[in-house]
Amino acid sequence: MKGYIVHEFGGPENMLWETLPRPEPGPGQLLVEVHASGMNFAETRMRAGTYSGQPLPFVMGMEGAGIVREVGPGVSGFEVGQRVFGRARGCHAHSVLFDAEHLMPLPDTLSFIEGAAIPVGWLTAWHALHTVAEITPGQRILVEAAGGSVGSAALQIARQHDCWVAATASSDRKLDKARELGADLLIHYLNESISERVLEASGEAGADVSLMTIGEATATQLMDAMGMDGKVVMFGSTGGKDICFNLGIGIRNLQLLSMSISTSPAFVPVTMKSFREQALPLFADGTFKPVVDTVLPLGELVRAHRMIDEHQHFGKIILEVPQ
Ligand SMILES: NC(=O)c1ccc[n+]([C@@H]2O[C@H](COP(=O)([O-])OP(=O)(O)OC[C@H]3O[C@@H](n4cnc5c(N)ncnc54)[C@H](OP(=O)(O)O)[C@@H]3O)[C@@H](O)[C@H]2O)c1
Repeated sequence: MKGYIVHEFGGPENMLWETLPRPEPGPGQLLVEVHASGMNFAETRMRAGTYSGQPLPFVMGMEGAGIVREVGPGVSGFEVGQRVFGRARGCHAHSVLFDAEHLMPLPDTLSFIEGAAIPVGWLTAWHALHTVAEITPGQRILVEAAGGSVGSAALQIARQHDCWVAATASSDRKLDKARELGADLLIHYLNESISERVLEASGEAGADVSLMTIGEATATQLMDAMGMDGKVVMFGSTGGKDICFNLGIGIRNLQLLSMSISTSPAFVPVTMKSFREQALPLFADGTFKPVVDTVLPLGELVRAHRMIDEHQHFGKIILEVPQ
């Protein structure tokens, strides 16, 4: 089997398509033949060497959909030949090992491409909104970068929970798509003040929950858009890691909540459990729609990395894996 491996951090040319040993599933693992894998912002940082804790060498890819080919010791609930999807490192390859706790059955109504568009973005958004912020119906939710893979999922999850959603993006094209997914308020954050728009639309009450990812360029506006007791969930750092904010946020009792689905002790027992029970049926019946922007052959992984840096996509860039 072959996959994209990185031996040295650097540019996209450092991802090499090489023959790799066929992985053997250990206890609690499954071997999955990958048919499609999703592209993620974090992978561009892993490849460049700016993603904390990334060891070398490593096979690229963080999520995928495919067919179970081998079931390791102690795994129950999955069988050889089953269509599955989930999160696993090394998915930009013909085959990959999944830990069973991160793997889910792929609903019959979804293609491999749609399945590969779900795991990282939707599980991050689900964890942020349900596990961390504990959103309730009727709340006002502010979603930054609503065209991102996390943002476009968060928009749908919050709307399905009967929340009011304000979406920000850097272009009218992305905002039009956010409207199609149900956003109530559209904010072109390069041309408009996020706080002015949210406060005006909410009768000066402000947002109850916001999902923050862009960083310094919008941090102050986002904090100023928050209402009393508001929760700011900091899930990403697309525009840079350092932000500066005014401690005057204390007057509104704001809670600043950070998170990582890779390290949160609540992720598997709480988020994966509720996602399997509540979100999977909503994908199966079409309520939740995976958002696919572009499908490329896996051989065009370099182009996919460049597309992430250009950030014109809405939803996911998916790589189809040749069999
Ligand atoms: N905490 C966690 O567990 C977790 C899990 C998954 C992802 N993440 C993080 O969440 C963030 C978003 O991930 P994603 O997969 O949704 O990314 P994505 O699909 O690539 O979307 C990122 C969005 O950020 C905006 N952006 C602003 N400045 C940017 C820049 N300099 N380069 C690229 N995009 C920029 C873009 O929207 P506009 O054009 O509208 O500005 C873009 O659509 C990343 O920082 C990622 O590492 C965290």
